[in-house]
Amino acid sequence: MIFDTHAHYNDEKFEDDRDTLLASMPENGIGLIMNACSNLGEIPDILALCDKYPFIYGAVGIHPEDAETAEDGYLDALREYSKHPKIKAIGEIGLDYYWTTDTKEEQQRILGEQVDLARELGLPVIIHDREAHGDTLRILKEHKVWECGGVFHCYSGSAEMVKEITDKLGMYIAFGGSLTFKNAVKPREAAAAVPIERLLIETDSPYLAPVPYRGKRNSSLYLPRVISQLSEIRGIAADELERITYENGKRLFGI
Ligand code: NI
Repeated sequence: MIFDTHAHYNDEKFEDDRDTLLASMPENGIGLIMNACSNLGEIPDILALCDKYPFIYGAVGIHPEDAETAEDGYLDALREYSKHPKIKAIGEIGLDYYWTTDTKEEQQRILGEQVDLARELGLPVIIHDREAHGDTLRILKEHKVWECGGVFHCYSGSAEMVKEITDKLGMYIAFGGSLTFKNAVKPREAAAAVPIERLLIETDSPYLAPVPYRGKRNSSLYLPRVISQLSEIRGIAADELERITYENGKRLFGI
């Protein structure tokens, strides 16, 4: 069975066929899905998916691109929603300097606050880090992320930074469709460097579909493409990688 450790099935791109698609997951080998969250407004839909599908778990958190939606009291709201038994992480949270650096300070503040919340609640964090490696590592260190654990999702850092994340911060690293892109030399080097017990797979559906579906809507059903790419990189059989990453995901999220 496959564990898709990062997807957004509440996204409107699934509006027309969400239920048919999700109902087909188990028969296609998808055993577990972690649905990430970008802002408070999404949470009711995420909880409804968790209630409806036994194999879907959820996270709550505010994405750096939605930093300006973090109004007074947002931490209390996250704390309240996290009481749902299928909420197993705080995320996705982090820093994104690719689209804008105007909200840098706000992004950094809410990242730190949400890591503190994760530690208080004993939940791992799901980290989004785009073009902000230095600041992300610094804040995670300052806020003692090793006390709650977590994952760097859709990892875009270097192979050198892998050691820092897995050994010093005690975190996991997840790879998705971008690993299959033609120019993905750096991600492939990084994927080779992750200790096997810290390796996870994900889609970030509906985004980042693997080759040959690049540019189309992504879904967990395309994960075998990522697994076969990883299998080549690691020299480990695909079914063995599937089993290992499934167990790793369950360990991280306490499922
Ligand atoms: Ni995401």
